[in-house]
Amino acid sequence: MIITRGLSKSFGYVQAVENVALHVPEGAILGLVGPDGAGKTTLLRMICGLITPDEGEVILAGYPVTKMEQAKENLGYMPQRFSLYGDLTVMENINFFAAMYKLDKQTLTKRAEEILTLTDLSAFKQRYADNLSGGMKQKLALTCALITRPRLLVLDEPTYGVDPKSRQEFWKILYRLNQEGMTVLVSTAYMDEAELCHKVAFMNEGQIRAFDSPTGLRKSFGYRILEVRALVRDPYILNDLPQLIDVSFSGYKYQVVVNDVSAASLAIQEHLRAKNITLVSISEAAPSMEDVFALLAEKKVV
Ligand SMILES: Nc1ncnc2c1ncn2[C@@H]1O[C@H](COP(=O)(O)OP(=O)(O)O)[C@@H](O)[C@H]1O
Ligand SMILES: [Mg+2]
Repeated sequence: MIITRGLSKSFGYVQAVENVALHVPEGAILGLVGPDGAGKTTLLRMICGLITPDEGEVILAGYPVTKMEQAKENLGYMPQRFSLYGDLTVMENINFFAAMYKLDKQTLTKRAEEILTLTDLSAFKQRYADNLSGGMKQKLALTCALITRPRLLVLDEPTYGVDPKSRQEFWKILYRLNQEGMTVLVSTAYMDEAELCHKVAFMNEGQIRAFDSPTGLRKSFGYRILEVRALVRDPYILNDLPQLIDVSFSGYKYQVVVNDVSAASLAIQEHLRAKNITLVSISEAAPSMEDVFALLAEKKVV
């Protein structure tokens, strides 16, 4: 559905995207995951033909994205900061959007009805966009992106700053659309959302650093994880042990990355005993997406 080859873009001295080759298969939900500044928005904008790459090309539904007319018909784009018109109602926003695509009134009314039902906004057609909750605003933005019935939906951090329940609802809608055959390319900084994608491209410093299914990514994590609970609240208490590769403290437990589970367990037990601290439990846990990405991003090891 989307193929990019050697895609690069710089802004002055900043190389925002560097030599990206990405393939989004038809029918997939592909997550583009990475920290702020990784280059996600720039990549998505090039894929949608909104900015011109310095190098490389984008093939969208079989057409170079530069041949916008054919490519555009297939594409729905929900930008990172959607500029809804706060002083227009939900329906007026949709009308405004549809006008850009020259949809006739009958088609528009029918589609709007369908999509508003799907996004659960039917009851709010006359409400001003300014008076919608954060989650509902995002759903309205999605409704607008869907008005052309695209085969491909590109969403740039659609759930950023939205409460967990609305995020869940939003993903249910994405799944529904995907089941109906829509290909979804979605960027996110939320690791739990990465788990919901069929394939995940992890981006950092302008490059795709990993591309696999969530399960595949977790399998490729070369280390093991220990969860340690102890009667202590010092985040740095385990920092000096050479057997531990990384330690993070979440308020009630320590998450420790190790090579050798038994050697590390022993070292932790001895260390705490020597400090007279009660160890409550120590057990192995499966690596989470967060662990995988922390490693991929080459975060500084403690
Ligand atoms: N229009 C622009 N002008 C200058 N620098 C930009 C512009 N857009 C993005 N950048 C820079 O490119 C890098 C990647 O940004 P962006 O694509 O927005 O990443 P992300 O969406 O992953 O946060 C950042 O360093 C950002 O400051
Ligand atoms: Mg962005």
